[in-house]
Amino acid sequence: MSRRAVVFGAVGQLGVELVRELRRRGWSVGAWDRSQADITDAAAIERALAEFDPQLVLNAAAYNQVDVAEKEPQAAYAVNALAVRNLAVACRQVDARLVHFSTDYVFDGTARHPYAEDDHPHPLGAYAVSKLAGELYARAYLDRVLVVRTSGVFGPGGVSTARGNFVELMLRLAGSGRPIRVVEDHVASPTFAPALAARTIDLIDRDQNGLFHIGGGIPISWFQFAKMIFEVAGLDPMLLATNEREYRTTARRPRYSALSNAKMERVGIAPMPPLKQALEQYFALRKQVSGAGKEDLRS
Ligand SMILES: NC(=O)c1ccc[n+]([C@@H]2O[C@H](COP(=O)([O-])OP(=O)(O)OC[C@H]3O[C@@H](n4cnc5c(N)ncnc54)[C@H](OP(=O)(O)O)[C@@H]3O)[C@@H](O)[C@H]2O)c1
Repeated sequence: MSRRAVVFGAVGQLGVELVRELRRRGWSVGAWDRSQADITDAAAIERALAEFDPQLVLNAAAYNQVDVAEKEPQAAYAVNALAVRNLAVACRQVDARLVHFSTDYVFDGTARHPYAEDDHPHPLGAYAVSKLAGELYARAYLDRVLVVRTSGVFGPGGVSTARGNFVELMLRLAGSGRPIRVVEDHVASPTFAPALAARTIDLIDRDQNGLFHIGGGIPISWFQFAKMIFEVAGLDPMLLATNEREYRTTARRPRYSALSNAKMERVGIAPMPPLKQALEQYFALRKQVSGAGKEDLRS
């Protein structure tokens, strides 16, 4: 009998890649989007997992609206924290292993080096607090749990999701013909979703538990990343550097949130692909999925 896994948030950017990669490796996958399984509904989640009886549960569902979360912290907390408790409790009942995803925003950005797993978290806002609470819930109820923190996720799934991603935002702005202003004083490690999904499943295959960082591999400012996007896309819009003082957002964000992948590499997982190569792959995949509906992305 094939191994069974469930992916929650299966039509999000990361969810579609997890489903694809698990199926490629021979797993039988329950790919559930919000309409099939709302992770805030504890009873429904418990029933669904008892029925499917998976060995592995991956939670790619999240509330990702960093600024809106400042106005509705309860909504962010319900999905990113309390629902993770639901998943952990339900996993315990069916003895399934849980994989949960968190964020570089659990840090305050005062470090001078890519953040490692043992660096002290200090979230700066409602979204970040909710994601840190989710990590704690996952690890409170389960011994066999893998928590993966990532950063600035971009995958071809973002072409058709409501939230999109930074690459799609840049392409939209370029299409408007107006000057584009991007912050140069905020640094992260943008992460290619297919590579993130593959590395995560590599960690599962190696039976790794606990906390791991999987970022894009290099620290880069959003301005420099935008420049790279336009270079790879063959576009030349007017791109201007701005900064935190000029470009205020509702939520505070860490100025520096690049993640170190050293722990992942120490356990024998291949380094992430170079960022430019990931963008080239993104654009190749984007061509295939442009115009495709969610159904196509899920298959
Ligand atoms: N995107 C980033 O830049 C970023 C950065 C750092 C960390 N992360 C983390 O990486 C993981 C994957 O993110 P992503 O980029 O793939 O996000 P995404 O594309 O926004 O996908 C999230 C998915 O979760 C679903 N969802 C939301 N609430 C739900 C609920 N109550 N029940 C079931 N599904 C629900 C969404 O459905 P709807 O479309 O219906 O809302 C969406 O399909 C998340 O844990 C996120 O916090 C992301």
